[in-house]
Amino acid sequence: MESLISLVNKIQRACTALGDHGEGSSLPTLWDSLPAIAVVGGQSSGKSSVLESVVGKDFLPRGAGIVTRRPLVLQLHRIVEGKEYAEFMHLPKKKFTDFAAVRKEISDETDRETGPSSKVISTVPIHLSIFSPNVVNLTLVDLPGLTKVAVDGQPESIVQDIENMVRSFIEKPNCIILAISPANQDLATSDAIKISREVDPKGDRTFGVLTKIDLMDQGTNAVDILEGRGYKLRYPWVGVVNRSQADINKSVDMIAARRRERDYFKSTPEYSHLTERMGSEYLGKMLSKHLEVVIKSRIPGLQSLITKTISELETELSRLGKPVAADAGGKLYMIMEICRAFDQTFKEHLDGTRSGGEKVN
Ligand code: GDP
Ligand code: NA
Ligand code: MG
Repeated sequence: MESLISLVNKIQRACTALGDHGEGSSLPTLWDSLPAIAVVGGQSSGKSSVLESVVGKDFLPRGAGIVTRRPLVLQLHRIVEGKEYAEFMHLPKKKFTDFAAVRKEISDETDRETGPSSKVISTVPIHLSIFSPNVVNLTLVDLPGLTKVAVDGQPESIVQDIENMVRSFIEKPNCIILAISPANQDLATSDAIKISREVDPKGDRTFGVLTKIDLMDQGTNAVDILEGRGYKLRYPWVGVVNRSQADINKSVDMIAARRRERDYFKSTPEYSHLTERMGSEYLGKMLSKHLEVVIKSRIPGLQSLITKTISELETELSRLGKPVAADAGGKLYMIMEICRAFDQTFKEHLDGTRSGGEKVN
């Protein structure tokens, strides 16, 4: 059976590819109803590092200032075998096997929309898919880092613009928030916690990630937070140790970094009892499982939306008449087929749940 996450990935891509043709239908609502995970946090809190560790690859642009200036919708697809590759939605025929080229394309595609000025941000997402035997199925949205002040001639409005963009993603009830806070700063000053608390006051859909645990002051540790006594969320906090800037400059590879991260938690007395639920590898697996559970719980609602979408698309297609216009009609047809496949797989998953004796919805 196709995994629910990869199915949702497919429909997300189809909705996006359809663009304006979907206006006036239930498609935008459907898109908003699909669960995804958004990564939020202050600048330099470690967002890119966490994403790269979860993927196990270096592929994100780096540098000082606002590097992420457009949302990056990152879909991870687990493949059984074969060489890993990446694909952008705006370059559908090109398979990237060189991840340095992926990084360059993210940055070039950012500039194409915003111009090369680091002062401009855009809400238009870049869609990137990574196919690899080493990833878990997961959809993550990387967002620009929250800032407190405009610098380097940026317009004053940039602080608010970034905040608005982040909020527009995380205020959707279906958004799972990955809130990144550095352990070497007071949690009370965390941008990630501040904004996630606004939209999810009880922490029901917020996952707290504590980065830079290795950089905490001597004599202090993160045990209180990691054990849920610092800032309470419904799900336990996850601590990570990403590569330092020095590691990145020395090109310490991701596999070595993950091993070192594991060793760090295991060999530090304060954290050794938490080892099982710390680190990037654990984080990726836990999020993938959680996303699957969330999607499953939303099946009934999604299914009725999909049924509605299919009938709308049928009406629209018959209105266009045959032969369907290559652009609009072709895409509508494609998405209708995907919706049908979706509907079918949902039924299979529900049947699977029933025969497994679990309760539906
Ligand atoms: P972003 O701006 O939130 O995307 O942050 P980055 O992932 O680019 O990280 C900012 C800087 O902090 C980089 O120099 C990273 O190497 C460093 N960094 C991130 N996480 C950690 C960590 O857990 N430990 C250490 N020592 N450095 C980290
Ligand atoms: Na932060
Ligand atoms: Mg970044």
